[in-house]
Amino acid sequence: MSILSFPKRGKWGKSSWRGNCSGYIYQEIFSWTRPQLFVDPMCGSGTSIEVAHELGIEAVGLDLHSGFNILRDSILDNVGRQADLVLSHPPYGGMIIYSGEVWGEAHADDLSRCESDDDFHQKLQLALLNQREATKSGGVYGTILGDWRRAGTYTSYMAEAIARMPKDELMAVVIKAQHNVTSGNTVYRQKLPLIQHEYIVLWKKPKLLQVNVLSVLAKQQHKRLTQTWLVVVRLALMSLGGKSTLGKLYAKVAEAAPSRLEQNENWQAKVRQVLQMHTADFYAIERGIWAIA
Ligand SMILES: C[S@@+](CC[C@H](N)C(=O)[O-])C[C@H]1O[C@@H](n2cnc3c(N)ncnc32)[C@H](O)[C@@H]1O
Repeated sequence: MSILSFPKRGKWGKSSWRGNCSGYIYQEIFSWTRPQLFVDPMCGSGTSIEVAHELGIEAVGLDLHSGFNILRDSILDNVGRQADLVLSHPPYGGMIIYSGEVWGEAHADDLSRCESDDDFHQKLQLALLNQREATKSGGVYGTILGDWRRAGTYTSYMAEAIARMPKDELMAVVIKAQHNVTSGNTVYRQKLPLIQHEYIVLWKKPKLLQVNVLSVLAKQQHKRLTQTWLVVVRLALMSLGGKSTLGKLYAKVAEAAPSRLEQNENWQAKVRQVLQMHTADFYAIERGIWAIA
């Protein structure tokens, strides 16, 4: 079943630890992944570790509150060897602030104190790559996190995390009902449904590591950008009736994608390159006039 709902959190961890996770969720995840060695690099009140120990699984819990910083310290160095499962449950969206509120003093690298969503997306990617490095080939790494809507905008931390990790490694996305949600659910005029779920996102580290993960990610992002350019140009040509002069097409593209153009000074050359490269999508009717193929 890819939807989990456990209204009770069980005896594990601390019920007073805000944003904690039901121990039954970890029981489920362990039943799917059957780890011998498990690591939780943001273990909070220790729910996952207690569940693991009860099941006879060797488990290591790390957290900023006890001196481990996932943005600075290698999980692998701390644990000493790669694990079968490395699963985090990070704070997201600043709904619950941990350092300085749940424990100790405010810490700049606390993921609940990110200055913006982009800051969080980038730091979570770093955390996940750190987890991946600490995972055995053929093992599983993952995260439990939700999305957030505020001021009418919905931010999908889950979608960003998936987009920033190797897509061929994605193994499962499971929905986890959230019970007793007290914050982050302000209802706006549209009366949209309250967010009462999180996701468990799992990736499998390949058995044979033939290519470097950074080159995989760079290629993935490059392909995404190339495809987006194709979509932007095709959409502009569609809205011009399917054919156009280059001049009108430039004007339409500029209107449709201002932020994309800010990033690319040679954008007119880029438009021409897109037209010339994608022969299945575009063709030149005559010099300077292009149409959708
Ligand atoms: C949602 S809580 C985890 C709760 C846990 N699953 C439980 O049931 O108790 C998130 C944890 O991430 C930790 N954290 C935040 N930033 C961190 C960082 N940079 N490195 C390691 N841990 C961090 C916080 O201290 C907090 O304990």
